[in-house]
Amino acid sequence: MCGIIGYIGSNECTGFLIDGLKKMEYRGYDSSGICVKNGSLTILKREGKISELEKSMNSSIKGNIGIAHTRWATHGEPNEKNSHPHMSTDGKIAIVHNGIIENYNSIKELLIEEGYKFVSETDSEVLAHLIDKCYNGDLEDAVTKALDNVEGTFGLAVIHEDEKKIVAARRGSPLILGVGENEMIIASDAVPIVSLTKKVVYLDDNEIAVIDENSYKVKRLTGESVDREVQEIKWNIGEIEKKGYKHFMHKEIHEQPTAMENTIRGHINEGKIKLSVDIDVEKLERVVISACGTSWHSALIAKYYIEDIVDMPVEVDYASEFRYRNTNLRENDLFVVITQSGETADTLAALRKAKSSGCKTIGLVNVVGSTIAREVDSGIYLHAGPEIGVASTKAFLCQITGLLLLALYINQEKGGTNDPKLIEELEQIPSKIDEILKHEKDIIKIAEKLTYCRNFLYLGRGLNFPVALEGALKLKEISYIHAEGYPAAEMKHGPIALIDNEMPVVFIATEGKILDKVISNMEEVKARKGRVITITDSRDNKVKKLSEDILYIPKTLENLTPFLSSIPLQLLAYHIADMKGLNVDKPRNLAKSVTVE
Ligand code: AGP
Repeated sequence: MCGIIGYIGSNECTGFLIDGLKKMEYRGYDSSGICVKNGSLTILKREGKISELEKSMNSSIKGNIGIAHTRWATHGEPNEKNSHPHMSTDGKIAIVHNGIIENYNSIKELLIEEGYKFVSETDSEVLAHLIDKCYNGDLEDAVTKALDNVEGTFGLAVIHEDEKKIVAARRGSPLILGVGENEMIIASDAVPIVSLTKKVVYLDDNEIAVIDENSYKVKRLTGESVDREVQEIKWNIGEIEKKGYKHFMHKEIHEQPTAMENTIRGHINEGKIKLSVDIDVEKLERVVISACGTSWHSALIAKYYIEDIVDMPVEVDYASEFRYRNTNLRENDLFVVITQSGETADTLAALRKAKSSGCKTIGLVNVVGSTIAREVDSGIYLHAGPEIGVASTKAFLCQITGLLLLALYINQEKGGTNDPKLIEELEQIPSKIDEILKHEKDIIKIAEKLTYCRNFLYLGRGLNFPVALEGALKLKEISYIHAEGYPAAEMKHGPIALIDNEMPVVFIATEGKILDKVISNMEEVKARKGRVITITDSRDNKVKKLSEDILYIPKTLENLTPFLSSIPLQLLAYHIADMKGLNVDKPRNLAKSVTVE
């Protein structure tokens, strides 16, 4: 949602804070602000991109203690007065906040009655005044007391004009400490920290941290001290640079062969699957999977894998739906959450609901040390590396890789035999993705013809149905073109009314037992002058005759086609959006990690 960052140390910090905001712009970018302490507090806020703030910076804004914020609006429209930091009325306290204060209205009313002056429409501003109200010369104590009255979520950093420290606290929004030499950093994620230090401390929910130039201490909000060890970040700053690509998304599409190899690494040994997950396979009766967005699409693919390989019932649900349903989870269920960021609020809520039902929980997570990664009973890290582009690509590929490994593992542990050809072919997939990437120019040619289109349909059957959903999501979220994914057979139950000679219909039509049925659907579209674009590994002449354009993918086993058919769809969406001159990495209204409900 939003990105917060704070610095305290021996160096002047404004440059580091602004650079840190830029590195977190994918978390939110409708306005930003900075506050530094140099004797008194100096603040600067601007609507729009962080470059607007940077342009307005001047030499009077300097100091070696500071906090900064890049916003994704939840309460109050994106403008300067609603941007963070928010200040106490006397200008002595500044706060930056990521999250939602659910009882802010009642707190605001009480504070206004006591004479506090509000200048914004945000929920976050109540924190500045509430901390001010509780302040009696000790910032840590004031923040603790203030948060005792708060319902909702926060990743929070606070500074006071009279104190040489930063106080930070978290509940439901991520917060990480960076431990440097004579300098400490607090930030929403590790990306802006790693340029100064790889030593980090992950805060848990309902914890408060007090940091100064040379030390940090962590406590529960209830007061108990917490002994939290320093961990080492494994990836390096280079991985979060663009390396000559125009957009992070384009780089991440091309990183997929390596990313997938990293996901597999250490999990396949002479045909045996090795996972350090805690599952009681003897008692296991059902798998329940919950996720959002692209991660929900990979969950649908996992359903096919587990039903086919383990012959076990699988239920898949949007996390935002699961968390409010009477889901009758049983203790012999295995609950799986899938999430790139590890911070998606709905997915976290679904996980916590499942844990309260007593069933085992597993997480497939990309961001190491993220909240969900630390709350599941066990899990599989995707090791896809930082995914900066808002549209998920390599994380999706690594999710379905991890989910296939999980299906194979459960089958193996239940005494079943896995198909050695499937495992061998899985390890060949990265090189087959490389082959597809080498034909990117064929995809660019097709994209050039479609940039003006206003509606797309994506159709597939079986495993290709979730791929159709994912292809449609990629297009709509970065090109703003309306696109719908559908099971191909469902087209005749309504969407066929949309078909005309302006509408591209993208078929994922790979070899398999139902290809003939998909060809019939292609004929139905063609008969209505629809424009058929086909992703296929088939050389069937009928497919060729019916398609305006064909994007061939290498042959593979039927179960593995999603690993390949999703790649051209990512590239098609990317090039259409890029040709439209859109901000591919930071699409309007979106954020990389949706930490609000
Ligand atoms: C995917 O391209 C989107 N950015 C979005 O749907 C994303 O998959 C969703 O918000 C879930 O995020 P997560 O995997 O970090 O939980």
